[in-house]
Amino acid sequence: MNKTLLVTGSSGLIGSEVCSYFAKELGYTVHGVDNNQRAVFFGAQGDTRWNQKRLEGSLKGYSHHELDIRDRAGVLALVRSLKPTAIVHTAAQPSHDRAAAIPFDDFDTNATGTLNFLEAARQACPEAPFVHMSTNKVYGDAPNRIALRELETRWDYADPQYAEGIPETFTIDQSTHSLFGASKLAGDVVAQEYGRYFNMPTCCLRGGCLTGPNHSGVELHGFLSYLVKCNLEGREYRVMGYKGKQVRDNIHSLDVARFMAAFVGAPRSGEVYNLGGGKANSTSIIEAFKLTESFTGKAQVHTYVEQNRIGDHICYYSDLRKMRNHFPSWDITQSLPDTIGQIVEAWRNRPHV
Ligand SMILES: NC(=O)c1ccc[n+]([C@@H]2O[C@H](COP(=O)([O-])OP(=O)(O)OC[C@H]3O[C@@H](n4cnc5c(N)ncnc54)[C@H](O)[C@@H]3O)[C@@H](O)[C@H]2O)c1
Repeated sequence: MNKTLLVTGSSGLIGSEVCSYFAKELGYTVHGVDNNQRAVFFGAQGDTRWNQKRLEGSLKGYSHHELDIRDRAGVLALVRSLKPTAIVHTAAQPSHDRAAAIPFDDFDTNATGTLNFLEAARQACPEAPFVHMSTNKVYGDAPNRIALRELETRWDYADPQYAEGIPETFTIDQSTHSLFGASKLAGDVVAQEYGRYFNMPTCCLRGGCLTGPNHSGVELHGFLSYLVKCNLEGREYRVMGYKGKQVRDNIHSLDVARFMAAFVGAPRSGEVYNLGGGKANSTSIIEAFKLTESFTGKAQVHTYVEQNRIGDHICYYSDLRKMRNHFPSWDITQSLPDTIGQIVEAWRNRPHV
């Protein structure tokens, strides 16, 4: 059977990794949808055309579709014509700070764009596994209510209930999400509903910090990629509140793609997974400075701003037990230091830097 994968946001960090992984490792014919909206959201620094060209030059049979996911008629027609055997939806307005300035673009992309693809899939290929890239911001700032302890270089959970991290059962309600978190939550719940109501094989992956060498990191999105870029260029990195001890768990895009492949191979309906690097791949910002410096030999230039980002997590790492339990052959393969090393190399070699 001809295996066809449709990937939205194909020129972005996750989308491009998924295109490569499914084409090279699994023999899929891959169709990517991207209109370089990241450059509209974040300016020239967010431009992803270089990555589109990289895919077109390196993947046999790769097709790029210049389509805005908000174009409902275009989305319905494309999915109807391709009838893909699997869909991975990663296109998004991905920044919670940016969303406040562009609420309509944010919601139309993250919520309505997701609905467009889900309904298109229901009409054309309801049996195709549908992976929706969600975010841990669906939990809003509720994780900040967990008792914390302050360590020398990071915050950590003081409550032993969260020793393994945040589980999928955590509340999504009655907290501050940012408009981005709210639009992503709408997409997340709709994707779950297509699984539960229509019995389609959908899942939502609630990402922690997703990272990797092919991110076009900017201040408003792509924490490690941007931090490394600042280090290499001697550019000032602004630490926003929480003493720089805020903790994020980081997962390499390759491990994200590998999990998506595991789900596509053995799909379930309406599932939700917290997809991050887990405690082992967690870091505070000031710890990330040190790790990066160990690769570049350059001191990180930074300033401290007292005011934290609205709704920002003080400490967040994902509980990976449900993922490991449902897909025992999957696990994290890329350590945090390896990942940072790869990001350093990538920025050094990227064409437009
Ligand atoms: N990177 C992270 O740390 C992180 C964390 C949690 C969740 N996520 C989620 O993972 C997904 C992928 O994130 P990423 O880091 O790869 O983002 P990215 O910005 O690198 O990639 C997204 C791609 O989607 C494209 N796109 C955006 N709007 C579009 C539109 N209207 N039509 C067509 N294409 C459009 C962009 O041009 C971009 O190339 C997103 O859903 C994001 O919310 C990311």
